[in-house]
Amino acid sequence: MTTLLDDDIRKRVTDPLDSINKETGDTPFRVFSDWLNLTLTSFTGDEESYQKTLSRYRSNGFDEDAVDQLVNLHAEALGGLVLGLEESNEDILGGVYEHYGLTSDRFGQYFTPGPVSRAMAAITIPDDGDLREATLDDPLVIGDISGCGSGRLIVDSARQLRAVAPEVPAVFLGYEKDSLCAKMAVINFVLNDIIGYVLLGDALKLKPQKVWSAGTGRMLKGERPVSVLTAEETDWVVSRFFGEEDRNAAEETSQGSLVDFELG
Ligand SMILES: C[S@@+](CC[C@H](N)C(=O)[O-])C[C@H]1O[C@@H](n2cnc3c(N)ncnc32)[C@H](O)[C@@H]1O
Repeated sequence: MTTLLDDDIRKRVTDPLDSINKETGDTPFRVFSDWLNLTLTSFTGDEESYQKTLSRYRSNGFDEDAVDQLVNLHAEALGGLVLGLEESNEDILGGVYEHYGLTSDRFGQYFTPGPVSRAMAAITIPDDGDLREATLDDPLVIGDISGCGSGRLIVDSARQLRAVAPEVPAVFLGYEKDSLCAKMAVINFVLNDIIGYVLLGDALKLKPQKVWSAGTGRMLKGERPVSVLTAEETDWVVSRFFGEEDRNAAEETSQGSLVDFELG
């Protein structure tokens, strides 16, 4: 089942991406992956990674004007996503992923349908006691830690919390082994103003290969809305939110491998 996205809203994202596909001959998967990388590296300020995609365009024979045009199309797709989020309560990013998944096996994951995700978020909201006890030092922790996909359950939970108890400090966690999905979750954190962490890796092992920290509030201090944690910070996040006992249990039971669709 795919997300029921309004065609006009979806096309604001997919039309520019499809134009890039036509211009470059890159597969939809490559174009979508480039778009996420450009978006995410602009959030983190990682200029070197940002330039990687542009260098590939250049080495494929595109001159500076043509590269600029491609960058503009990527920006147009991001603008379409932001506009769409203002007009719809659906997870547009995950919906676009599923749209391309209809014609390509490389978009291999399926997400909880929007209405079900919203119902789950409403049902699983913590009770009054937990909400009352949350403080800035010991915030409420809400996670989708066995595979958060595009992060829609987290987004719906954050919206639900905002609706019932906007004053409650909360940290949101996503754990995801597919790097494309993990990047969508980080982007969804930023565009939906969610504070928290997305861990990339096999949740059964509790040894993330990468952790992004997201929070738009830090932009007020002139900082980027997303940072990639150092090894030390990653250890802190794992022990803070999962604890030593969970980590030991994960080590004893873990099997399976990381799915990493990172390109180039
Ligand atoms: C069916 S999707 C659900 C995504 C999301 N929870 C939702 O409700 O829309 C399952 C997700 O779990 C991820 N996943 C599966 N096994 C995992 C594991 N061991 N560690 C981390 N992620 C995993 C997959 O990559 C996929 O994105």
